[in-house]
Amino acid sequence: MPEEIYSPGLEGVIAGETAISTVAGGLSYRGYSIEDLARNCCFEEVAYLLLYGELPNAEQLDDFYKRLEAAAEVPAPIIDAVRKIPAEASAMDVLRTGASMLAHWDPEINNNSHDANIRKAERLLAQLPVIMAARHRLKQGKEPVDPESGRSLADNCLHMLFRADPTPAHTKAMDVSLILYAEHEFNASTFTSRVIVSTLADLHSGITGAIGALKGPLHGGANEKVMDVLKAVGKKENAETWIRAALARKEKIMGFGHRVYKNGDPRATYLKELCNELAKETGNEDLEITADVIQRVIWEEKKLPPNLDWPSGRLYHYMNLPVELYTPLFVLSRVAGWSAHIIEQLDNNRLIRPRARYTGPERRTWKPIASR
Ligand code: ACO
Repeated sequence: MPEEIYSPGLEGVIAGETAISTVAGGLSYRGYSIEDLARNCCFEEVAYLLLYGELPNAEQLDDFYKRLEAAAEVPAPIIDAVRKIPAEASAMDVLRTGASMLAHWDPEINNNSHDANIRKAERLLAQLPVIMAARHRLKQGKEPVDPESGRSLADNCLHMLFRADPTPAHTKAMDVSLILYAEHEFNASTFTSRVIVSTLADLHSGITGAIGALKGPLHGGANEKVMDVLKAVGKKENAETWIRAALARKEKIMGFGHRVYKNGDPRATYLKELCNELAKETGNEDLEITADVIQRVIWEEKKLPPNLDWPSGRLYHYMNLPVELYTPLFVLSRVAGWSAHIIEQLDNNRLIRPRARYTGPERRTWKPIASR
């Protein structure tokens, strides 16, 4: 046996190899910095890059759009089932159920080959936004809006939610946030998906499990909690007192800290620019000032930088998106990264099965029930 190595939460442990992304030297997807991608690409190009390993040329991108368009139809029994889910169920739970149900209608569910998994990933990329938007509208007593051809995924998402053409600024903000959320190495949900398929389970199982892992407030769920923080603060004049008191109470402030980025999350730095622009456009400058005060004090007191969820929570608020959709939107994007990891895992699979350090009782002797 090799020497026993133990790191709580697997912190700092290299748990596998990947060619999809790295956080070394700033986050990059397949060698391209996220700043470069966010400034110059659309989400579809980035999803293609993650799935296929290279940026598409014009023809490949056009074909990709067409395949996504063709795949966007969700089987009617799934929408019927979504109608019947109790209104109290969270949007994340419904999306997790949706991903699981889509497996039953996927024509290639039992084909775990590389190419079939790419096709399944494309279908999920196209179908999950439809389920998210349909659920949101049904919950409000409105009928779902079908996806429309000629719209990007970001544009369609907003159109299916609000049945109105989004402004170019809103479409751009949505697109950039999808790019920044698309992939992040061995985070908890991605690792979950790799563990699941390392047993040779199917891609839909990996994605369904990953959605469950993403839901938690220490991971994707944090972007929804960011708005609770800002609402609790109230006016910008309260920010300094509020945050100092919260830190004194040892409260965890959602949207701050990161397991890997101890000096700053490059995604948060980039998204803040866009957040500021949208705040100006929508008359939300005061909220940006409040956010800046909180950020400054947490850095002064704890040396904790904001993570991506800090600006993205605000960005979605400025776009009038309901808070319960913030983490589902993360899902719609991360499906690209999860799928790339699932495919990479299966291309060179080894069952993921670590060991545990035993902390239970010493070996003892069984006693008959009458003498216990
Ligand atoms: N607010 C206040 N204190 C914090 C925060 C926070 N958000 N994050 C970490 N700390 C404190 C810890 O309490 C700890 O303090 P201590 O040494 O006095 O006990 C210290 O900073 C180190 O933190 P760890 O918990 O060891 O950091 P870890 O790497 O385990 O956790 C995590 C990272 C889970 C992201 C943590 O920072 C956190 O809970 N943040 C809030 C949730 C959040 O924003 N999650 C989104 C992550 S990014 C994403 O999923 C896109």
